[in-house]
Amino acid sequence: MPISEAEVATLQQRASEAARNSYSPYSHFRVGAAILLHPDQRQDGAIAAGTNVENASYRLTCCAEQSAIAAAVTLYGPQIRIRAIAIVNLNGSACMPCGACRQTLLEFSTPETAVFYPNADGETVSATLAALLPAAFRLATE
Ligand code: THU
Repeated sequence: MPISEAEVATLQQRASEAARNSYSPYSHFRVGAAILLHPDQRQDGAIAAGTNVENASYRLTCCAEQSAIAAAVTLYGPQIRIRAIAIVNLNGSACMPCGACRQTLLEFSTPETAVFYPNADGETVSATLAALLPAAFRLATE
């Protein structure tokens, strides 16, 4: 089922609220992400949000998407599947998920997982995670 405009607006609102708590004293780039869980989860339509948390040792920074995933697993358990994620920032910039976040999202995604983010013109762009991360790494398991 496609994500409705109302669902996207709700996710963007939740992501914006999270972004207001951004800890970003180094980049000053305030990012928020909100995840809509897949309806077959026990929490039908549940949303979890997160923001970026930077560190003086720059590479230890946690992106908003990763914070949102950590919150979703913490709140709803390890079986979560992401139906959609919206990423926003309070800087009026384009903000597509970085490569590391795409791989992190893949862990809890389906082929249809939808990603919404702002482009350079401030328009909301939608793409599937499969399109954003072709030839993704997957661990071969027995
Ligand atoms: N950032 C995110 O939160 N998500 C992304 O997908 C890209 C970048 C954050 C990390 C850092 O705190 C700031 O944006 C600048 O890179």
